[in-house]
Amino acid sequence: MSTDQTTSSQEATSQYREINLEGLRARNIITPHGDHTRSAEEFRMIKRPLLDNAFDSTIPNGNLIMVTSSLPGEGKTFCTINLAMSIAMELNRTLLLVDADVSKPSVLRQLGITSDKGLLDLLQDKNLKLADVLIRTNIENFSVLPSGRHHKKATELLASEAMAELLQDMAQRYPDRIILFDSPPLLVTTEASVLASHMGQIVMVVEAEKTPQPAVREALSLIDSCDIVGIVLNKTTSIPGAGHYGYGYGYGYGQHN
Ligand SMILES: Nc1ncnc2c1ncn2[C@@H]1O[C@H](COP(=O)(O)OP(=O)(O)OP(=O)(O)O)[C@@H](O)[C@H]1O
Ligand SMILES: [Mg+2]
Repeated sequence: MSTDQTTSSQEATSQYREINLEGLRARNIITPHGDHTRSAEEFRMIKRPLLDNAFDSTIPNGNLIMVTSSLPGEGKTFCTINLAMSIAMELNRTLLLVDADVSKPSVLRQLGITSDKGLLDLLQDKNLKLADVLIRTNIENFSVLPSGRHHKKATELLASEAMAELLQDMAQRYPDRIILFDSPPLLVTTEASVLASHMGQIVMVVEAEKTPQPAVREALSLIDSCDIVGIVLNKTTSIPGAGHYGYGYGYGYGQHN
């Protein structure tokens, strides 16, 4: 990893992929250009406090934001991609989406793109630079860092000093950029809680009417190293007019001051 490149030369050498926006819309994922759907509106509300905190100089690494949950399948990746799209649509903001669910990556598949290298390669190969594995896309201000080639020591790599240095470097080198991490479920692997200790903010996705309260409580206890934890209640049915799902956002719930 090199720290001596400018942002523009980083962008110039990275790869480029076309995301199929129609495909995303078909799966209820918000896209740039004129989405006035209910979920676009809801993610706009979810991102607002995240953006305020991200650029508050009193919050360390506020621009590093991890999306996680207690259990598998609660909607982490779905919410991460929606949130990423919504943030990339902000004026003068750039967004880097990192697939940090290294044992079960799904961001690239959900975006309908492919790549062979990513985060795990970057952590092992000192000759690789962030620019070599970053993917720019047809969505302005939206780039992706894939999880990379499967590695049997993936968990150790994520918990390594190299990862801590990479995160610190990313947070500081791109202070005007939001770096959003998709992650594994907290109660299944140790990776997410290790990552949490480097994050400025965490979004905890909770599947409405399904995830047991003790599971949420236990998961929150694993991320108490992070001061700012917000909750997204996903797949709710109780919001009038929300159809088969909706969102609620209990910002500040689970804060540890
Ligand atoms: N609010 C929602 N509306 C519609 N579909 C949703 C919603 N949330 C999640 N889904 C769908 O539910 C499935 C599981 O979601 P997703 O893959 O985002 O969960 P996850 O928490 O990332 O799972 P894993 O723990 O396996 O990584 C996906 O098919 C996703 O498209
Ligand atoms: Mg996922």
